[in-house]
Amino acid sequence: MWPDLRLCDLLGIEHPIIQAPMAGTTTPALVAAVSNAGGLGSHGCATLPVDVLEDHVAQIAQATNRPVNLNFFCHAPPVHGPGDHARLLDALAPQYAAAGVAPPEAMPVPGFEPFGAAALEVLLRHPPKVASFHFGLPDADAVAALKAAGVTILSSATTVAEAVWLEARGADAIIAQGWEAGGHRGVFLDLANDPQVGLFALVPQVVRAVSVPVIAAGGIADGAGIAAAFALGAAGVQIGTAFITAPEAAPKPLHAAASALGRDDSTRISRAVSGRPARAHRTDWLDGMAGVTPAAFPLMYHYVGPLIGADAETHQFSLYGQAAALAPEGRAADRLAALVADAQAAFGRLR
Ligand SMILES: Cc1cc2nc3c(=O)[nH]c(=O)nc-3n(C[C@H](O)[C@H](O)[C@H](O)COP(=O)(O)O)c2cc1C
Repeated sequence: MWPDLRLCDLLGIEHPIIQAPMAGTTTPALVAAVSNAGGLGSHGCATLPVDVLEDHVAQIAQATNRPVNLNFFCHAPPVHGPGDHARLLDALAPQYAAAGVAPPEAMPVPGFEPFGAAALEVLLRHPPKVASFHFGLPDADAVAALKAAGVTILSSATTVAEAVWLEARGADAIIAQGWEAGGHRGVFLDLANDPQVGLFALVPQVVRAVSVPVIAAGGIADGAGIAAAFALGAAGVQIGTAFITAPEAAPKPLHAAASALGRDDSTRISRAVSGRPARAHRTDWLDGMAGVTPAAFPLMYHYVGPLIGADAETHQFSLYGQAAALAPEGRAADRLAALVADAQAAFGRLR
């Protein structure tokens, strides 16, 4: 049925399709539905307080005994530069005034921390089949502890250099994330210059550079995209945008727009909301933020939070990718089944 079974064998899944972890959008119900349907359900846990993480792990365990993936961020703890607070209040003053909201007064504290001891402890007590990371990997001791507990480790690379770096530090498979992808780019080695490599160029070069299986991510939302990923040498795909409007996902204001209006050109990459490059629905507000130098990730959320919430028409911020228009509809299991069937049809056409 699939031309390459390395990922299915590694992860213990029927179909080499990973529903992407999406912090704030994935839910235990979505994760379980995808895993029960034979894919790999993934939960974006990066922003969850540890008690909520524990609760979600328990909910997932109740709903499925299939492999699942728990995902975390490994960003460098942010440094707030001297003068950043005043500079941002000054730059955003017209927007706070126009939106009728008070500017944030306090120096920001990060709303969430990089993967650390507390989350590691939860994973070691309840080891998932898979843990995946964005923005690099945890330290070597944490990676070794997870592997000793039987956890398979994945992480995203946006360049060949990042893929080689991840493999050398223990990643069991590499998610090659193209520029097309919705959400935050996983870029971590050259964040200042974000090299912006597209998926068609990235996947074959990563495949040549590493010996572990490669998973293609970014702009894949139908069977033709899945078949193309295998043709490029990938052993599987990770798909986010095609699941954001599943009824099991946490609803976001502009995600409905993604399914109704999402086109090839309806998103842009911006650092304006979090401080890191992320692909999101293109609004006048987001375009207008292009001139503002953001605070370090994730401190920028502190400054734009009041604006994003201020006006549902223009200020909502919603992450999704370039292939929203191709996404199947329905419940998560139906979407996975449609992707599987469409991929088989695409393989058939190519034969
Ligand atoms: C709404 C949204 C949130 C995301 N959040 C995360 C996340 O928490 N962790 C992560 O590793 N990737 C995250 N991503 C990126 C996905 O892992 C993946 O690279 C991307 O969805 C693939 O591109 P596609 O959206 O075109 O399918 C997110 C993507 C979206 C659309």
